[in-house]
Formats: sequence, structure tokens, C-alpha cells
Amino acid sequence: MRHRMHALCSYFAMFPESFAEHWLSKLTAPGDTVLDPFCGRGTLPFQALLMGREAIGCDTNPVAYCISRAKTNAPSKRAVLARINQLEESFEADRIVGEQLSELPIFFKHAYHKHTLMQLVYLRNTLRHRATIVDGMIAALILGSLHGETDRSENYFSNQMPHTISTKPDYSVRFWKERQQRAPKRDVFGILRRQLDYRYVEKPPAGRASIFNTDMRNLPRLKSKFNSPIRCVVTSPPYFDVTNYAEDQWLRLWFLGGPPQPRKQQFSQDDRHSDVNQYWTMLADMWRMLSLVLDKKSDIVIRIGATRLAPEQLVSGLHAVSKVASRRVRLVDSHVSEIVKRQTEAFRPGSRGCRVEVDCHFRLI
Ligand SMILES: C[S@@+](CC[C@H](N)C(=O)[O-])C[C@H]1O[C@@H](n2cnc3c(N)ncnc32)[C@H](O)[C@@H]1O
Repeated sequence: MRHRMHALCSYFAMFPESFAEHWLSKLTAPGDTVLDPFCGRGTLPFQALLMGREAIGCDTNPVAYCISRAKTNAPSKRAVLARINQLEESFEADRIVGEQLSELPIFFKHAYHKHTLMQLVYLRNTLRHRATIVDGMIAALILGSLHGETDRSENYFSNQMPHTISTKPDYSVRFWKERQQRAPKRDVFGILRRQLDYRYVEKPPAGRASIFNTDMRNLPRLKSKFNSPIRCVVTSPPYFDVTNYAEDQWLRLWFLGGPPQPRKQQFSQDDRHSDVNQYWTMLADMWRMLSLVLDKKSDIVIRIGATRLAPEQLVSGLHAVSKVASRRVRLVDSHVSEIVKRQTEAFRPGSRGCRVEVDCHFRLI
């Protein structure tokens, strides 16, 4: 059975765990160390731990960091439950929240029932999600339920929304007003306890991954923190002109302490490239970084996609920019696949979508 922690929180352009599992089985053995420099929701590091590998992940986005760290450094269920109960008890006595609600943009009034929003604002104020892994896990569970398809499930706190990206505030308010759709009353603490039971049905792996909230270009400077040589990378950099992770995650970023509205390119200049030259420059930087952190004879698997580039252009472009690496890079194989669920089209109104993905296997000599 698929480990339920994998789907702790959905993430735009995530790859399936079967993809990570396939390449880890093919290219690594138990005890090896693997890296994903654009780890998103942590699919690769988590799957690596399940398979007895050591794992390192990195991402600029605090949402990605929170989810990846929670699932790859999972605290005991008992500790998380005790903390949820304690938070619920102290919520009754909290008084500041009411004032804070009135300062939030109108979007929040339509997105959440007042009681649910009070609980969320209280938890946002109280959780020390970076300081402790218990609070980190609770924050990750909240991110997973913060918005979603309320029509189908009572596991989401919000009015009807997609579960991978947060829609733009004006669009959402118009949508809810036109349909007279009211936010349901949800008990955050009850949902958290239910989610905790569900995610912990199977024990999380005993191993711990190292997750960094930083730009992948900084990894060479962090090399002293890696315990053993890295010989395998399985990753998926931002696709060309498809999404902006900071903007599309604005509501989850708000919960983690960010502003209550979308902000462009808040964490990474690489989130959405519409200029192809800049895009190849970012991928050249990735090759430079990889040639500095990887051991001899390393395997690198890259899944990539684009709206305005043909698959052949992606493969040849990726290979061409690898020339900046101070070491030789050989293309072992590449494979083009049709995106079956078309996530980009399903969740972004008016999106042209991303139709193909390419998987490239390189060897760094
Ligand atoms: C295609 S997603 C990766 C999804 C991941 N494979 C998963 O399964 O969830 C690309 C990720 O790259 C991150 N990113 C963008 N620029 C970055 C940079 N310069 N360094 C590290 N991460 C970056 C984005 O925040 C995003 O999470």
C-alpha cells in the first residue's frame, strides 16, 4: 500500500512516488545518499527513506520546506496528538484573534467560516513550525487541509477551491458570490486529529532526511553538512512558463507567516520563466551546482516540461547547458510522456496547460 504520508499535502507539478521509486530502484542501493535540489512536497526524499536510502532535499519555497521536512523528520503520533489537544485547550482563552480577523482582506471572509478562521489565525499566531518538528508536522497537516474541494470532502477548511494552488482573491470572491457559495463551518482541531490518524496508519520511516530551505545554488556551500557522497539525483526543476510557486501558494504562505495576498517572485526568481534564455541560464546554474556537489560517476534524472517548447528542444537544451559544468555530462536516455491528468489546465482558470513531460537520464563523469 502507498504510504499515506506521501500525500500529506498536494503540490503543483509534483511527480508521483512511482517515478521516484522506479529510479531509486534502478540507480541506487540501500544506504546510498540521493539528492533532490528542487524537492517540492518531498516526494523523492520521503520515498528514499522508505527504501532505506539517505536523502537530501532543497527548495526555496517555505511551503515545500514545511511539508518535506515534516514527512521526512516525522515526530511520534503521540507527541503530535498531545500538542493538538493542548492547542485546542488554550484556544478557548485566546482573545486577540477577533481583532486580527477584521484586518484581513475580504477574501478570507468568503473563504472561511468565521469560527474556522479564528482557529486558523490562532494557530498561525501560535505554532512555532520552524523551531520544533511537532509544530512543523501540525503546520504541514494544516497546509494539506487549508483549501480544497469542499463539495467532495469534509477534510478541507475552506469554501470550494482547488487543492493544489490557491486561486487569485478577486476571482475567488466573484466565483463564490455568483454561486452564493458559503464557507462551511469546520472544526480545525477535529480535522487535524482525523488527518493525524489517517497519515500515521503506517509508521513513518525511522530515517531522517536533511531538508534545506534555500536556493539550490547554495548547496555547494552546505556540502560540509552532507554525511556521505551523493551519486544520484532525481529531480524536477520548475517547468518553463507553467507556474509561479510563490504566487500560486500564496494562501499557504500566509499561514506560514506571509502577507495575506499573492506576491510575485517572493522567494525565487526561478519560479516562472517566460524568457527562454533566462530559463536555460537557471538550468546552467543547476549543472554548475551539481558538478560541485556530486561524486564521481553520478546519475542524474531530470523530469521537465514546458508550454512553449517541444520535447526535443527540452532534451537538447538541457544537454547543451550542461556544458557549463566543470565535468563531462553524458545523456544516457530520454523519454517523452503525455501528461495524463493535465493538472495545470484543471486548476488554473484560463491556463494553456503543459501537455508533455520529458524524463532525461544523464551521467556526470
Ligand atoms: C516542479 S516543482 C518540484 C516538485 C517535486 N518534484 C514534487 O514532487 O513535489 C519545482 C520546485 O522548484 C522550486 N524552486 C524554484 N526555484 C528554485 C531554486 N532556485 N532553488 C531551489 N528550488 C527552487 C519551487 O519552489 C518548486 O517547489
